[in-house]
Amino acid sequence: MDEKRIIEIEDSYLARVYQKFPISIVRGNGALVYDAKGREYIDCMGGYGVSLVGHCHPRVVEAIKRQAQTLITCHGSFYNDKRAELLEKLIKIAPKGLERIFLCNSGAESVECALKAAIKYTGKRRIISAVRGFHGKTLGALSATWNPKYRNPFRAFISENFRFMPFGRIDEAERLIDENTAAVIVEPIQGEGGIHVAPPGYLKALREICNEHDAVLIFDEVQTGFGRTGRMWASQHWNVTPDVMCVAKALGGGVPIGATIGKAEIMDSLRVGEHSSTFGGNPLACAAASAVIDVIVEEDLPERARVLGEYFKGLLQKMVDEFRILREVRGLGLMLGLESRLFIRDVLMKALERGLILLYSGRNVIRFLPPLIISKHHLEKAYEILCGIFAEEERRLAEK
Ligand SMILES: Cc1ncc(COP(=O)(O)O)c(C=O)c1O
Repeated sequence: MDEKRIIEIEDSYLARVYQKFPISIVRGNGALVYDAKGREYIDCMGGYGVSLVGHCHPRVVEAIKRQAQTLITCHGSFYNDKRAELLEKLIKIAPKGLERIFLCNSGAESVECALKAAIKYTGKRRIISAVRGFHGKTLGALSATWNPKYRNPFRAFISENFRFMPFGRIDEAERLIDENTAAVIVEPIQGEGGIHVAPPGYLKALREICNEHDAVLIFDEVQTGFGRTGRMWASQHWNVTPDVMCVAKALGGGVPIGATIGKAEIMDSLRVGEHSSTFGGNPLACAAASAVIDVIVEEDLPERARVLGEYFKGLLQKMVDEFRILREVRGLGLMLGLESRLFIRDVLMKALERGLILLYSGRNVIRFLPPLIISKHHLEKAYEILCGIFAEEERRLAEK
């Protein structure tokens, strides 16, 4: 199908909830994707952080192919070999003490389960999340998501039991978290909110405050998990272990899968029938996820993210030093944000025209979530493209 037709059909029939880029991506390989006209793009968006091991990693493709010929669906009420294999692999890499897993299909679903488990376990009702935090858009997860743009149209249906604390402020956490708090949910590095890294001591303080009030500490590692930040889990940068962890995005290599991984006593408070998912833990997704974990571990992708991330952050810092319209670079590993003093929509569009796919966080932060297998060469190319665009932007502003 040609590109014009693809765009026409999607624009006609797809629910209008996505801000669209004007290209259709039909093929991917590693850190590169191709549109219907055959044009190549460096993918620094990585499908919003999904393609951590790269597009169509041969081991993931092989695992999917093999499983598709064997068994695609198997409800959670039956046992399954591929599910068992994945559970073992997840437990092996999960922070110590987290040993019960609910398998689902997305990040928001993994958050829903974490919230329900915390509510059930503590018997309390207050949930605290962070200003600028993002946890998904289903009604439960949306209640914990801060952005008023996402919340306001549904205000009447959003739980009143949620409160927001400023991210990074220990004093505010101490003020808000009390004996009525069932759970505190935060991202160790806020992704959607603009790549804000937890300040030193913050997560440890949250851990202590939650312990003091018997509140469940939930880390949402949907975006930060599986090595992106230079450690398997972002929480490891601060040596803090949550009670429950939410993961998704990268786990399936593109096949939808999420997981809520928690302490047994918390997860076990959800009894038979109190939570479930028809597709959760299906063998196809589990086979893909097992292959993804193998690749991450065997290729030591967290270390690769650390090394390449440091290098790329250095390049971005050079840009900040050179261009006055740039304010700051933030992030860890290959989860980086470049804050501009101006709206960055035009920059994203120009980058696209030059063969580079980028992501935004809000109006003025360019977010980089490339596959961890991306080459140094492609990161350098991305840097050159961006330098060219910012030089043009500054010239344009100077002429005004
Ligand atoms: C930290 C975090 N939590 C939850 C979600 C929701 O994930 P999903 O879109 O798979 O529901 C996202 C998605 O961007 C996320 O970044």
